[in-house]
Amino acid sequence: MKKVVYPGSFDPITNGHLDIIERASKIFDEVIVVVLVNVDKNGLFHIEERVRLIEKVIKPYKNVKVESFDGLLINFMKERDTKVIIKGLRAFSDFEYEFQMALMNNKLDSSIETIFMMTNAQYSYLSSSSVKQVAKFGGCIKGLVPDDIIPDIMRKANK
Ligand code: PNS
Repeated sequence: MKKVVYPGSFDPITNGHLDIIERASKIFDEVIVVVLVNVDKNGLFHIEERVRLIEKVIKPYKNVKVESFDGLLINFMKERDTKVIIKGLRAFSDFEYEFQMALMNNKLDSSIETIFMMTNAQYSYLSSSSVKQVAKFGGCIKGLVPDDIIPDIMRKANK
């Protein structure tokens, strides 16, 4: 069984993330989305809230599940007996950061491989940070995140 782990902050999940999830679900038998802490980012949503938003939008994909983990990604992978990480790449600017993380994870556990999937061009400009900014200042986030979670994001961003 080919399993892949899709890690990220997902603060919140965007249509760009969901596009990677959908495409990965067609390649792998099982996709495990895992919400982790990125120590370099201040979160808006609590980890459990991010998981709940993801749960809402992955319902159509029967081979996709979501979990959270407090710790190193490689330790989560060990617990789930998985070896492959998938990450989306939007632009050249993502490359250095993703390259560093992939090499660090491989340094920590040499059996771990990271594969990259190019973002769909229509989402190449999209990020969770820009969604939060637009939502905070009352802009329209339709088309940027799944429709089902727009009210949750607008509510949280304007608290
Ligand atoms: O969506 P992001 O913020 O680019 O995801 C980054 C994330 C959360 C996958 C990364 O920060 C992470 O793996 N955090 C858990 C701690 C860890 O394993 N760090 C080692 C890699 S440098």
